[in-house]
Amino acid sequence: MTPEEFRQYGYRVIDFIADYRAQIAQYPVRAATAPGAIRAQLAAQPPFQPESFASILDDIVMKLLPGCTHWQHPMFFGYFPSNAELASVLGDFLSSGLAQLGLNWQASPALTEVEELVCDWMRQMVGLSPAWRGVIQDTASTATFIALACARERVTDFSLARGGLQAEAQPLTVYVSTQSHSSVEKAALLAGFGRQNVRMIAVDEAFAMRTEALEDAITEDLAAGKRPCAVVATTGTTASTALDPIRDIAALAQRYRLFLHVDAAMAGSAMILPECRRMWDGIEAADSLVLNPHKWLGANFDCSLFYVRDPQHLIRVMSTSPSYLRTAADERTTNYRDWGIALGRRFRALKLWCLIRAEGVERLQARLRRDIAHAKWLAEQIAATPPWQVVAPVPLQTICVVHQPPGLNSQQLDAHTRDWVERVNASGVALLTPTLLGHRWVARISIGALATERNHLEQLWAAMQQAARISEKAHQSW
Ligand SMILES: Cc1ncc(COP(=O)(O)O)c(C=O)c1O
Repeated sequence: MTPEEFRQYGYRVIDFIADYRAQIAQYPVRAATAPGAIRAQLAAQPPFQPESFASILDDIVMKLLPGCTHWQHPMFFGYFPSNAELASVLGDFLSSGLAQLGLNWQASPALTEVEELVCDWMRQMVGLSPAWRGVIQDTASTATFIALACARERVTDFSLARGGLQAEAQPLTVYVSTQSHSSVEKAALLAGFGRQNVRMIAVDEAFAMRTEALEDAITEDLAAGKRPCAVVATTGTTASTALDPIRDIAALAQRYRLFLHVDAAMAGSAMILPECRRMWDGIEAADSLVLNPHKWLGANFDCSLFYVRDPQHLIRVMSTSPSYLRTAADERTTNYRDWGIALGRRFRALKLWCLIRAEGVERLQARLRRDIAHAKWLAEQIAATPPWQVVAPVPLQTICVVHQPPGLNSQQLDAHTRDWVERVNASGVALLTPTLLGHRWVARISIGALATERNHLEQLWAAMQQAARISEKAHQSW
């Protein structure tokens, strides 16, 4: 494609995206396609001859769009908000257009220095002290994996330079709560700890990690000859945005010399609100933390911030410095390849820089406050309407609910919950994700899409009530 063709089709692509966003509310939220149906419409063999970009765009509109679930839809209440503010989309376009590759500082000084800058902006925005240094990773999954590799190497005094975990005399243990995200367990397994050394700590009635249970597990493991290594606490669990008590967990981490990593992937964005920072009280005593601006804040995926208090330790764990990558500037600059797994790094910082500049902190704060107020309002409506129940605290923007008609046993209640949620989703009006919370299925309403306003919550509440009524009737034979 020539620059002139790029200009021509680029305008069309931008027009298409602008129209899509402006008209997004008219689409059914969830894609209503059968598995394989999208692929069946597309050429199975690659084209031997060039195709016009116009025909590619036509296929996107006609064949791919029906296969999209619309995460930016105002009635999207599934999973978590994965907001892509348009200013950040433009930042990502620019990153692709400039096509920088940050192998080291010299390979793209601007890439490195803007990344340093936005990590520091975000540090200030979420109220962390200057003791933290940040880096952008692709996802929280990667950040947590790196954190656990750092924990492993700190506790073993750099076993990787010797025989690795395989040569350690004692098994190393990691502590996570039963409500931790699956990526935490995955990170622990991939970092070599082994499933039997990943201890799932019980939670209290608010679904937060119980610190007495944590201490019991640590002392049991010590008595059994194991070596407690790391604890991962969560600020804002995936199912219900539960808040682990960071200060108490940090005190235990200090007492037993554990590495403390905090997963604030979803709720970390809320720390731009001073009134929310009590939710991670004690955070300064952690060793590392992750938060995802690619969720609620509005940086389009992928953009995950990983902060550490000891960058030298991180660099020692992650660095390999082959001669062809060394430059004269190495001593004076940050080489982010030594802060993560990938050597090649793209200009991810641009989308976050564009987002923060184009929105300003005040407007970002106002939007998050709006979403928290929306959640409070809807939770109040639900709690005041028996047999509906709000089954977990609502500190932020996620509400866990059940509709509990009298006389249903727990199995029937689970079936009813999944049934009415599926009715809402299948209607295309809204999207919710059901989840297991403790031992029961609940409907999870995750508020915070950019376009969601109060009238959308009113529509959602009406759709939920209608679906539950139909489901209840359909199952009256129970
Ligand atoms: C608390 C929490 N941690 C981690 C993750 C995983 O995030 P990522 O997709 O960035 O790996 C999620 C995503 O749902 C999450 O809610």
